[in-house]
Amino acid sequence: MSKLKLYEYPEPILRKKCIKVDKVDDELRRFLDNMLETMYADKGCGLAAPQVGCTQRIIVVDPNPSDEDLSARRPMHLINPEIIWHSEETVLFNEGCLSLPDQRAEVERFEKVRVHYTDYNDNEQEILADDLLAIIMQHEIDHLDGILYIDHLSRLKRSRLLDKLKKYRNECKKSK
Ligand code: NI
Repeated sequence: MSKLKLYEYPEPILRKKCIKVDKVDDELRRFLDNMLETMYADKGCGLAAPQVGCTQRIIVVDPNPSDEDLSARRPMHLINPEIIWHSEETVLFNEGCLSLPDQRAEVERFEKVRVHYTDYNDNEQEILADDLLAIIMQHEIDHLDGILYIDHLSRLKRSRLLDKLKKYRNECKKSK
């Protein structure tokens, strides 16, 4: 397995609408393995294909990406994931994204979602996600339509966050 290059805001690929996968083969599975490795290496709990330069509808998810206890990991690969139902209730969660390093903001999401997808072995699956998993699913599926969590913020909150991101990057440059 190998770690993939991570694309960060404002790379244009993050704004692309991704296309459906029509065949689950070994090449795609290798890519999914690499996506998962990239996600764990960067301590994320979800990663979408455009974040690693691919415009196909693929995400990987693990609500418990533990480094200490590898057996606690619950990786999921979702190909062509689609939200087919959501609860009326919404929740607020403080989200982050590997493509906007070191930033977080509170976003409103549906409390529960039902997701239809194709799995690693090319089987059709459905999952009712709640809690953190539901939030990650909505965040990652958004990525496949070119939507970032900052798009759900008010204009003021978004511009504050982007200012902080700029400062963070300048500090990273200075400390190198
Ligand atoms: Ni993200």
